[in-house]
Amino acid sequence: MKEHKLYLGLEKGVALVTAGSRGIGRAIAHRLATEGMTVVAASRSVSEPEIVGDGRIESWAHDLGDSDATGQLVQKVVDEFGRLDVVVLNTPGPRILPVLDTNWSDWQLAHDLLLRPVVQLGNAAGAVMRGQGEGSIILLSSTWVRQPAPGGVLSASYRSAASAYVKALASELAPIGVRVNQVMPGATGTDRMQGILEMKSANNGTTIEEEVAKVVKDVPLGRWAEATEIADSVAFLASPRASFITGTSLVIDGGAVRAAH
Ligand SMILES: NC(=O)c1ccc[n+]([C@@H]2O[C@H](COP(=O)([O-])OP(=O)(O)OC[C@H]3O[C@@H](n4cnc5c(N)ncnc54)[C@H](OP(=O)(O)O)[C@@H]3O)[C@@H](O)[C@H]2O)c1
Repeated sequence: MKEHKLYLGLEKGVALVTAGSRGIGRAIAHRLATEGMTVVAASRSVSEPEIVGDGRIESWAHDLGDSDATGQLVQKVVDEFGRLDVVVLNTPGPRILPVLDTNWSDWQLAHDLLLRPVVQLGNAAGAVMRGQGEGSIILLSSTWVRQPAPGGVLSASYRSAASAYVKALASELAPIGVRVNQVMPGATGTDRMQGILEMKSANNGTTIEEEVAKVVKDVPLGRWAEATEIADSVAFLASPRASFITGTSLVIDGGAVRAAH
């Protein structure tokens, strides 16, 4: 991946990015490492450590569905590296289903992967950063919080709760200099997007190209995002360049959501 440096003042810091092996999470891990950070990318699959410019990515095996392990993850990073400057709360996406097709186990699974880890990791990171007197937490959320889409009830419901959670955390941690924000990506080209397109194509009897056209037709910029474009904004919000920004939600969707924020 070709990268330019943004000179954000993140060098020598330590970051944790969950769900960081592929897609948006991996792009964020790579961007933060490019800025000189040591990044723990935690997900079920692991890869070799990667040197990126002055920084590096350490790949740690972690299942966000394991609540005991998730409760200990932040402390493990601090034990290994001595501090924690940035935490990116990324999660896998839930099933795409019409509301009446969901059953209770779908809701429980979505809760256990989208909301519980966010609260566990946010609380643990907040406590560490309160002790340090600095740090930055970023929730990777979705425009579906602002504008729910067909089939997106599990995502929109639990992300709305996670969104409320990080706003409360932002208020409580602001007086001691810890910032908490969220980014809300719209359509972004990743494995998950490809899987959704294939599912819709099969369900609707359409081609992938027709499903792509449906996705981008409501995006004023006329395309979806690259994961690196989400990562650039996350790195900015994580950095000292965003030192007066907390409690905010940044929509990154090519202009698709036009509702007042
Ligand atoms: N792509 C979009 O258009 C879009 C738009 C808005 C919001 N989002 C949201 O952004 C998040 C990332 O999406 P993406 O498109 O980057 O997805 P993706 O390409 O499918 O990547 C998903 C990531 O989640 C990890 N993961 C899956 N299950 C896990 C588990 N149990 N424990 C730990 N890690 C796990 C995967 O790694 P392993 O398989 O190695 O565990 C992978 O790194 C999702 O919540 C998605 O809903 C995506």
